[in-house]
Amino acid sequence: MKYICTACGTESLKWSGKCPSCGQWGTLEESEELPVEKSGTKIGTAAKYESIFQDESKAFSSDTRISTGYTEVDRVLGTGLIPGEVVLISGEPGIGKSTLLMQVVLKFSEKKILYVCGEESPGQLNSRLVRLANNKSSSKIGQNFMVTEDICAENIVALIEKENFDLIVVDSIQSISSMQSRSYPGSISQVRICGAMLTHVAKIKRIPMFIVGQINKGGDIAGPKVLEHIVDCVLYLEGDQFNQYRILRGMKNRFGSTNEIGVFEMTGSGLQEVGNPSLVFLENDTKSSGSAIGAVLQGSRVVFVEVQSLVVERESTGGPMMRVANGIKKPRLDMLCAVMSRKGGVFLGDKDVFVNIVGGLNINDPCIDLAICAAIKSSAKDKVLDKESVYVGEVGLTGEVRGSWGVSAIIDEAQRVGYKSAIIGKSKLGKAQDIAVKKISQITSI
Ligand code: TYD
Ligand code: MG
Repeated sequence: MKYICTACGTESLKWSGKCPSCGQWGTLEESEELPVEKSGTKIGTAAKYESIFQDESKAFSSDTRISTGYTEVDRVLGTGLIPGEVVLISGEPGIGKSTLLMQVVLKFSEKKILYVCGEESPGQLNSRLVRLANNKSSSKIGQNFMVTEDICAENIVALIEKENFDLIVVDSIQSISSMQSRSYPGSISQVRICGAMLTHVAKIKRIPMFIVGQINKGGDIAGPKVLEHIVDCVLYLEGDQFNQYRILRGMKNRFGSTNEIGVFEMTGSGLQEVGNPSLVFLENDTKSSGSAIGAVLQGSRVVFVEVQSLVVERESTGGPMMRVANGIKKPRLDMLCAVMSRKGGVFLGDKDVFVNIVGGLNINDPCIDLAICAAIKSSAKDKVLDKESVYVGEVGLTGEVRGSWGVSAIIDEAQRVGYKSAIIGKSKLGKAQDIAVKKISQITSI
């Protein structure tokens, strides 16, 4: 018997309240040793090997890619699925994971599909499917769409081995369980064993497989990190429950880049693709202080966002100092506030600062820094910024503004969608621009 930390995956032999590795409390869970499979191979015999070019049929070329029928999904996967590829798709409850997979399934209606429905009944799936297929009767959707309510991993694996499916969806990994473990479904050992069994059978039969994984309150996929390691691709569907846009983002991809995002709009008839997302995150123009337009490069596409900030005197709220960040990481906001206080001429030590990226996009790219600083300064000084200007640049600890590598793509797109000017850090721009470009080197210049 051993214990595994749900947060970091560290194994330890005895239980303790605090994980000895990552220091989190209450994350150690019981897990059983995997039974060693009895096979005929003698331990110590040399492993077999072969030339990498031995078997051409094992190679993946671009024509072995299978389109999901949605360009936004294909882009995130890297032009489609690969036979035997296992994709873990995760996100908050109710964000639209099952809806998205249902829609992908509908695009595969000519093919044979297995949907393991551990969370919803086939009846529920059926009614959703009919709704997503614009009320076509279920017989027209396709007789090849198979569902199973069996949640025993061994039975599911045996079924996959026996039948020839073209696509498998497991919704969700937390709802199925294996006989190899006595733990309850959703526990670490179950998730790990079931994940490994399903991945193995998908690889052997060369069938693409989507596995839905629930996330825990910390935002990680519930279960050990090992699940993320064994699958080929980890996707997150994110967005604000109260906003119609959903972003599909790659966290890991063995067969493509993780820079790309897919953008969808949740409508009454399911998720619709947003072909050009550059302006969808901008709300109606607000003509008040504390708002600045920033831009980030998401894979091959530029997305403009409105950064809002509110700076208030501490006395008005009373309690401890507040730095609230929505859509960016809190430490980044703390750092930018410190830089603004010391180098930017806006003292924030006695103020509460709130920052929000409108539209539900989570941004890690530091080139949003300049827009955040501009919004903070605008709120602190109560000065309305020009909404025709875009701010792009990374802010350093000495108050310097650096250029970002994607800035020329951002400027091109800003010009195309009609922005009048851009305030950027020091960077080399290839061609002459029609748009007024102001290069600044210090944060005091905004
Ligand atoms: P769902 O796919 O069940 O979420 P998950 O599998 O990630 O838990 O999505 C459910 C939400 O999507 C629910 O709040 C309603 C909404 N929705 C629509 O707005 N339109 C639709 O056509 C569908 C099917 C769902
Ligand atoms: Mg679901």
